[in-house]
Amino acid sequence: MKKLIAGNWKMNGTLAANEALLSALAQGLAVKPACEIAVCVPAPYLAQVLNMKTEHANLDMVEVGAQDVSKQTSGAFTGEVSAVMLKDLGCRYAIVGHSERRQYHGETDVLVADKARAALVSGITPIVCVGETLAEREAGLTEEVVKRQLAAVIHVNGHCISEIVLAYEPVWAIGTGKTASPQEAQTVHAVLRAQLKAATEHFAGVKILYGGSMNAANAVTLLMQADIDGGLVGGASLKATDFLAIIAAAHENGQIQKN
Ligand code: 13P
Repeated sequence: MKKLIAGNWKMNGTLAANEALLSALAQGLAVKPACEIAVCVPAPYLAQVLNMKTEHANLDMVEVGAQDVSKQTSGAFTGEVSAVMLKDLGCRYAIVGHSERRQYHGETDVLVADKARAALVSGITPIVCVGETLAEREAGLTEEVVKRQLAAVIHVNGHCISEIVLAYEPVWAIGTGKTASPQEAQTVHAVLRAQLKAATEHFAGVKILYGGSMNAANAVTLLMQADIDGGLVGGASLKATDFLAIIAAAHENGQIQKN
């Protein structure tokens, strides 16, 4: 399976900064890497990024995603953005259940599952995030937490679960410079894969990304793990050279898999 390197810009960017970042990415992508690429950008900039894709041939392989999506389709839901709108614009992905939304916006497992369903129904691939806090890890609850979070999404989406992208993002590794070791991450990814196996015969095709302080230096060994199918990259996706270096690591990995 091809690796997917997805940038999560979070609440960063300006028209000018996005233009500079994407122009630099376009230059760096002159040779098509053997991996998939996406950028998940703030909603006000989705149209800008989608337009830039039409201007730079090298960006045609860069898919665009939102960072959240409503569970509703349309109507009186002030401030919400629906999956129908994202599809209409030309987006491919929407992150759902990022820990920052769970933590700062009180998103529950059930809401995250409903958002994933709304995305799937409209042809948007949800990138469903799961992950434990430091306190949960220290209490030995890592597996229990991620399994509970994924179970809610499986419960609501049934066999359509094979259409999602899953991201394991240990909360303690996000933006902290602390990365799960490749073995720690692989252990959790294997647990998630086993859970998917029980839910769908197409479990092997579900991409499970790792997120949390991924950078050019650690990407190589993380991406070598059997069940790590790519990265969801925060800080390092804001600098073209860093993001391109992670893409290069995924490319190398893709070449090794092919040979
Ligand atoms: P960092 O790569 O900045 O740790 O962020 C990870 C993340 O939250 C991606 O969604």
